[in-house]
Amino acid sequence: MKQWKLVCALMAIVMVVTLLAGCAQAAPSAKKFVIASDASFPPMEFVDEAKKIVGFDIDLINAIAKDQKFEVEIKNTAWDGIFAGLEAGQYDAILSSVTITDERKEKYDFSDPYFNANQGIVVRADDNTIKTEKDLAGKTVGVQIETTGAIAVRKIEGARIKQFDTPDLAMLDLVNKNVDAVVVDTPVAAGYALQSEQFKGKLKIASEIVTDETYGLTVQKGDPKKLLPLFNAGLKNIKASGEYNKIYEKWIGKAP
Ligand code: ARG
Repeated sequence: MKQWKLVCALMAIVMVVTLLAGCAQAAPSAKKFVIASDASFPPMEFVDEAKKIVGFDIDLINAIAKDQKFEVEIKNTAWDGIFAGLEAGQYDAILSSVTITDERKEKYDFSDPYFNANQGIVVRADDNTIKTEKDLAGKTVGVQIETTGAIAVRKIEGARIKQFDTPDLAMLDLVNKNVDAVVVDTPVAAGYALQSEQFKGKLKIASEIVTDETYGLTVQKGDPKKLLPLFNAGLKNIKASGEYNKIYEKWIGKAP
């Protein structure tokens, strides 16, 4: 009898120690950042058939997080209001193919640039009236609301602008002949015009408007969560290791 009590007591001790060890391991958990992304922008950020948020930006931030030993949670957030949410502190950063512009730099801080893009002019596959941006005069042009695409179209004299919440809605209106062209970042123009199941064969890229944009991770002014140094260091490392090029080739094509 006594021996059984001893065995039980020992077992109890072992269990408690195991439990404590488990807790101790979980305790110094890595720093976690909540990052907003508008997953309407294939192949940069979009929702796949399994309802998972995937794309270039997602692989990029995961590779950087692994390199710099932090954790990320991606929060799918509508583009319209994504900056307001950052200001309100609803998340720590935006990673959503955000172009670094002088105007935005007045209000937010940006990481080092991680991607180069221009604006693509997408038209219907059978269109032969629109070749360059000049041909957009007198036409109705679809854009995602308040993007650099919208800014580019506003500069084209005589072009009428129609804003959409997401680029795929603009593409749909293009196929349905409610707009004459869609202007959107080059990787996304290529994604829809050349690859998407929904629009393949129906659309083509007429040409590019050279806007020379670069994307950056966006944080509140002053980088209160101190994320930018981690992002920049990780970006440098994954560029040096070849990981960046692998991600680029997976989602975009030949690395620059
Ligand atoms: N690069 C453009 C901009 O900053 C469009 C970005 C839109 N991103 C998105 N995930 N919808 O205005």
